[in-house]
Amino acid sequence: MDVHNVEMVMSAVSAAQYPTDGMPEIALVGRSNVGKSSLTNTLIQRKNFARTSSQPGKTQTLNFYNVENQLYFVDVPGYGYAKVSKKQREAFGQMIEEYITSRKQLRGVISLVDARHDPSADDIAMYEWLHYYNIPVLVVATKADKISKSKFNKYEANIKRTLGFDEEDSDFLFFSSETKYGKDQVWSWIESHITM
Ligand code: GTP
Ligand code: MG
Repeated sequence: MDVHNVEMVMSAVSAAQYPTDGMPEIALVGRSNVGKSSLTNTLIQRKNFARTSSQPGKTQTLNFYNVENQLYFVDVPGYGYAKVSKKQREAFGQMIEEYITSRKQLRGVISLVDARHDPSADDIAMYEWLHYYNIPVLVVATKADKISKSKFNKYEANIKRTLGFDEEDSDFLFFSSETKYGKDQVWSWIESHITM
């Protein structure tokens, strides 16, 4: 998709604040600092529209981005950030759970993992949980610019094994917001899921 218009319409902390126009939604989940905002910026062809930071845990609300009046990207707070309080973490957890389990417009979730590392316990739990709720998942291995292409197969196999990846119901792609590697494929996945 060639994106010209994008607008951040809502920073929501509860269901009452979600948009009401019924456009399809694609959510982005993943550990803090994994690159959700960077992926959003790459897909919408902007440099720093979704705020990126070296300060993990900065995004603390569900941010809805209206893209070309065709869909919303929903940037979900990064999980697994140690410095937020336990109470804060539980509140995020509830907010995310409420959104993912009850949102009819949600057509799929892009679950980001760091291409270089074994998925964390949180990554595994998130993947299993999405799978349990039958939500179409695209696992995106980010920061792929940091590993050599000759090792992609090995890293992919490792990530899939650690996640207990289901080839029938999920998809997998490498991505880099530095080099834009994988951008068109991520868009294809999104487009095929919002037109379903
Ligand atoms: P939270 O909002 O805290 O949950 O983080 P986030 O998942 O939105 O991460 P963000 O996009 O802010 O990126 C975190 C850091 O990783 C930034 O310093 C980015 O520049 C860097 N980064 C993100 N994607 C890539 C990538 O594909 N390659 C490289 N080399 N760095 C990346
Ligand atoms: Mg972010």
